[in-house]
This record gives sequence, C-alpha cells and structure tokens, in this order.
Amino acid sequence: MKMVKNQEYEIEILDIDKSGGGIGRVDNMAVFIPNAVTEDIVNTKIIKLAKNYAIGKLINIVKPSQYRIEGKCNSADKCGGCSVQHIDYDFQLKYKQKQVKDCLERIGKIQNVNVQPTVGMDNPLHYRNKAQYPIRKVGDKCHIGFYALKTHNVVNINQCLIDDVRNAQIINIVRNFLESKNISIYNEETHKGLIRHLVIRTSRKEILVCLVINGKTIPYIEDLIQNLKKVSDIVGIVLNHNKEKGNVILSEKNTIAYGRDYITETICGLKFKISLLSFFQVNIIQTEALYSIVKDLADLKGTENVLDAYCGIGTIALCLADKAKKVVGVEIVKQAVINAKENAKINSIDNVQFVLGKAEDLLLDEKYDLIVLDPPRKGCDLEFLNKITNNAPPKIIYVSCDPATLARDVKFISEKGYKVNSVQPVDMFPYTSHVETVVLMSK
Ligand SMILES: C[S@@+](CC[C@H](N)C(=O)[O-])C[C@H]1O[C@@H](n2cnc3c(N)ncnc32)[C@H](O)[C@@H]1O
Repeated sequence: MKMVKNQEYEIEILDIDKSGGGIGRVDNMAVFIPNAVTEDIVNTKIIKLAKNYAIGKLINIVKPSQYRIEGKCNSADKCGGCSVQHIDYDFQLKYKQKQVKDCLERIGKIQNVNVQPTVGMDNPLHYRNKAQYPIRKVGDKCHIGFYALKTHNVVNINQCLIDDVRNAQIINIVRNFLESKNISIYNEETHKGLIRHLVIRTSRKEILVCLVINGKTIPYIEDLIQNLKKVSDIVGIVLNHNKEKGNVILSEKNTIAYGRDYITETICGLKFKISLLSFFQVNIIQTEALYSIVKDLADLKGTENVLDAYCGIGTIALCLADKAKKVVGVEIVKQAVINAKENAKINSIDNVQFVLGKAEDLLLDEKYDLIVLDPPRKGCDLEFLNKITNNAPPKIIYVSCDPATLARDVKFISEKGYKVNSVQPVDMFPYTSHVETVVLMSK
C-alpha cells in the first residue's frame, strides 16, 4: 500500500519519538503522530509526506493505550509545551530512560549501556521556577501566556500546570493593570508599543517579577507596584529595558522598581543568590536530587582538584567544595560569575575560584582529578573536549539536558579511553519530552 497525502489511515503506535509524539508505520514508512502514545490505535490523516517519513494528525483514537491519561491542561492542544501530558507519569519516566539509552547506543556507539530508571517526582506539577510570558494586545484585551505551537500568537492563560502555582495571581494582577490603564503593548511587526514580556522567577520562599519593556518606564507604575506587593512572597519588581528587535527576551539592562533584583534559594544546605540573567535549574526538587547524584558519583576524599565547567551561579562547585581540596568554576555570563563569587562568600567557602569566560578558552594548565561538565543544550565545544581528555582526569561527570548532544560528546570522550560507569536520568522537566542525565566516565 502506497501512502497518500491527506488520506486517513488506522495506525498502531509502536514507540514515542524525541518530541514526545507517537511513531507508527504504514507500508514500512515511519509516521510521526503528535499526542499519540505506544499501544494506541488511532485514525490519522497524513499531513506531510517526505521521502523517508510522514507526519500524521491524530483524528480520533480507535483504541486507547494502557499508558494514555486524560490531559490536565485546557490549553495543551494550542500551547504544545507539555507534549507528553497525555502519557501516564510512570510511562513518561520509562520513555525518558529509553530516550537516553537509544541516544547513547545509536549516536554514542556505547553498546549494552546500563541506564538507570529515571528519578521522578512525587508530585510532578507546578515545578517550574522560571516563566517568560509574552504579552499581546487582542482587541481591547491583553493576552499573557505562551506562543501557540510554531507561531507567535499568544495563548492567553490563567494558570499553567507546570509553572509555580503563585504565578497565576501575578498574571492576573498584571493583566488587569495593563487593561484598566490601557497601557501600550509591544507589537513585534511594527516594533512599537511598550510592554513585551512578563518574566517571573521564584524560589521556595521568594518571587522576583520582571516586566520587559521597550522603553524607560511604565505609566502608573506605582499602582502596579502596590497591587503586586499584596502577593506576599514578592521581594523585587524589575524593569528590563529591551529595545532590540528579535526574539531575545531579556536585555542586560535592568532597573529596580521595587525591592531587589535577585531571589535566594537553599540547595543541599547552602544558600544561593540568583539574579534575573543567571542560569538556574528550573526545578528545585529535582535539582537537589541531581546535585546529590553528582556528589555521590564524585565520591571525593578531600584531596582532589575539581573543575566545574559551565558552572552558572556556582551551585555544583559549591556543593562539592566541602569534600574537595579546591574547585575551579568557569562560566560565560558575567552576572552568574558575580553571583557565584557572592555565593561562595555567603556560605563561607574559600577553596573555590570562579573564572569569567568561555570554558573552551580555559588554559587547563593544572591537573584535575575530576571534571564536571554541565553545558547548554548544544553540548561541549570539540576543542574543549580535546583539552579535557588531554588533561586526563581519572573521572569526568557529564550533566546534560539533551541526550543527543550528550551521546555525541560521550562518544568523543570514550574514544579517548574513558569507560561509561553510570548513566542516571533525572526528570527535571515532567510533562515535557525533555530529560536531564548524569553520566560518570572514568579511566
Ligand atoms: C546548563 S547550565 C548549567 C549551570 C550550572 N551547572 C547549574 O547547574 O545551574 C549551562 C551554563 O553554561 C553557561 N555557558 C554557556 N556557554 C558557555 C561557554 N562556552 N563557556 C562557559 N560557560 C558557558 C551558561 O551561561 C549556563 O550558565
């Protein structure tokens, strides 16, 4: 049977793809079907037919899989953020474990790799501590929410199921303020208008609210501040001044409208200062789980020199410091390095040093016993991996939020004589297709 575009087919789902959609087969050709799950039988309309694969739209479910659950979010079909919210949570964890294993075997060429079961959450909702909501004017209404899948139309939301539960009240206050005072809203096409994004950063006890604006200030800002101050955990309101065209949300220019421009959080018994522009893991409960895995795998005795490459605000470096002789952290974002140095001081830790710059530019002129790598999604620079493996630390711990680039880099490191000792996925991003992984390699 030759597949035909726009025709409907009944398809059994055999697996899940890397973005969380189902994979079935027609005439031996893979068909990718968003919102389907392994063991579903679905009617699918073929909406794209390429040479080696097809994309199908789920028309209706003929027989639901045992792993299918009722989606909890009303905006899920429009927003596309939680692409596995139709999948039972235990099966989400298994799917992520399999994703990591598949990547390490297929891309990393590591055969029969033992990947541990994914560390999940007891309550996997409302975990996100950073949200960036675009704002649009639609008639006389203000839409605050998320971009609809593959567009820049804003899906107006009241409450997101994975964002901090306190955000809903803030969104409501900001929307009412903007509508009642008729504040001008930014238009991407004309590059005119004032208010661009609402950014909220939270810790367990504190909230930082930021309005990204195409200008100097907001009319009637005192009214907004008075209304937001009623939300008890807000410690700061910041204006971020972004006059550039394009998709970059935050500029480097902030002014404080109220309180301060950072929040604090306690992780593994240490206190951390987190500024608006610094990277911080999005899920505090899983971050503590992740760092304790790193600490266990590091198994430091107090004599080791450690390098924490891509160190952010110094969290991993500082969590390892009490068991190391010395830890060096390197990070490209200036504000994060400032936070890292402050965090060392706040916690009275003096055997750490933080360097501002690109990891790949580090000289590596001293010998390390452990190198921790926690790069962004694109993974490590090849030149840097070369330098690391030439430094030949007995242990490398790689923390990654992208199994594909992790596998590519693990392949490189293993070709330099390192063995993969342990692979531990952690569910940092429940209800999405993303997964965090810790890999220990040694020689
Ligand atoms: C995934 S985060 C990890 C941060 C930290 N380890 C943590 O757990 O919070 C990656 C960090 O690498 C930084 N970064 C990106 N490219 C870099 C580079 N070439 N050299 C050094 N740091 C870089 C980012 O600013 C970010 O803070």
